[in-house]
Amino acid sequence: MPLRYLTASESHGPALTAILEGMPAGLPLDEDLIALDLVRRQSGAGTGDRMAIEKDRAQILAGVMEGVTTGAPIALQLINKDHANWKGKAVPAYTTPRPGHADLAAAVKYGYDDIRPALERASARETAARVAVGAVCRAYLNTFGITVGGYVTAIGGHAATLEGLSFDHRISRARASETQCPDPDTADLITKAIGKAHDAGETLGGIIEIAVQGLPVGLGSHVNWDRRLDARLAQAVLGVPAIKGVEIGNAFDNTGKPGTLAHDAVIPGPDGLQRRSNACGGVEGGISNGEPLWLRAAMKPIPSTRKGQDTVNLATGAVSLTYYERSDVCPVPRAVVVLEAVVAIVLADALMEKLGGDSIAEMKPRFDILRRATFADVRMTGQPHVFWP
Ligand SMILES: Cc1cc2nc3c(=O)[nH]c(=O)nc-3n(C[C@H](O)[C@H](O)[C@H](O)COP(=O)(O)O)c2cc1C
Repeated sequence: MPLRYLTASESHGPALTAILEGMPAGLPLDEDLIALDLVRRQSGAGTGDRMAIEKDRAQILAGVMEGVTTGAPIALQLINKDHANWKGKAVPAYTTPRPGHADLAAAVKYGYDDIRPALERASARETAARVAVGAVCRAYLNTFGITVGGYVTAIGGHAATLEGLSFDHRISRARASETQCPDPDTADLITKAIGKAHDAGETLGGIIEIAVQGLPVGLGSHVNWDRRLDARLAQAVLGVPAIKGVEIGNAFDNTGKPGTLAHDAVIPGPDGLQRRSNACGGVEGGISNGEPLWLRAAMKPIPSTRKGQDTVNLATGAVSLTYYERSDVCPVPRAVVVLEAVVAIVLADALMEKLGGDSIAEMKPRFDILRRATFADVRMTGQPHVFWP
C-alpha cells in the first residue's frame, strides 16, 4: 500500500511527531491548511482544560518545498505547550490503574513500576498527530473532488433525527454546533446531558457518522481480506482510542431485515446504472461502488471519571479509588475530526493504489479516466464461457 505513517509522542512530552511517506509530488500544502483541522480537534462541548493550554499547530519539517509536496516523506511536529509545566518536576508515582485505560495491562506487559509511561503514550493526545496527517490526506482527496465529513448522531443516549437531511446539510449544520450534532433539538439535549455528567463526575459516549462523497468506483478489492476497503476502514476507525464499534452503512439495522430489503437495488439511470438506496454504505465486496461511502463509529464513555472507580493500588495492594487527573467529560464532538482524518488516510492510500504514479500531475489524467469509466461503459457479451476446461 503506497501510503504509510507513524507517530511518536508522549502526552506531556516536548512534541508530537508524525512521518507520512508516499504522498505524491505536486500537492500544495501549508501549515495554515493543517491548522484548520487541528483547531476542530481542540474545541467542542465536553472538552477538558488541557485544550485551553494547547494551541495546536503542525510545523512542516520535511517533504514540502515552496509550498508544494516533493514526494519525499513529510515530517510534521506539534509542540506540546503543557510540557513546560512538567519539565524538571518530580511527578508523584501513578500506581492506581484506571479501568478502561491501558494502565494495568500495559504495566504488566512492559514491566513498568509506574503507570505514567503507559498513560503518556496511550493518551488520545496522540490523535492530534493523526489529525495533522489526515489533513494532508484530505488535501490530496480534495484535489480529486473527494470530500470527507462527519457529525455526531448520538451522545448519552440522545439520538438525532436526520432523515431527509443530505450529507452536506448534516455536515454544515454540525460545524455550527458545539456538539457537532446537526439536529438542533438533540444538540440542546446533549448540551444539557454533558453539563449534568460534568457535575456528577461522569463521562458520556456517543455515535459519530462519517460520509465520503465523490469517491470513484473501484477502491479496495475483493481478492484478499486485507485489501477490502471496508476492512481497512474498520481497522483505522477502531484504531482511534475509545472507539469500540464500527458499522459500514446500515450494518446492524440490516440484520433484522430479509435479504431482499437489505440491499441496494440496481436500476437504470440517466448515467447508466444507479442504486435505489445506499444501505451498504458505498462498499460492496470490499470495493467502493461509486455511491457515497458512509460509516458509523461507537465511542465509549471515556474512562477517566472524576467520580472514583474501584481499583487496587499496585504499590500497597490496598483497595482504592482511581486517582483523577484533568480530563474531558465527553470528547465525542472533537473526535469527529479524528475519525475524518483516519478515514481520509485510508482512502488516500486506496486511491493512490488505484491511480499509481508519483506526482499529482501524473495522477490527475488517470483519475479523469477512472471517473469517466462509469457503469454506462459496462457491456457484457452475454455468451457462455467454459471457465475450467
Ligand atoms: C479525541 C479524544 C479525546 C479523548 N480524551 C480522553 C480524556 O480526556 N480522558 C479519558 O479518559 N479518555 C479520553 N479518550 C479516550 C482514551 O484515550 C481511551 O479510552 C483510552 O486510551 C483506552 O483505550 P480504549 O478505550 O481504546 O481501549 C479520548 C479519546 C479521543 C479520541
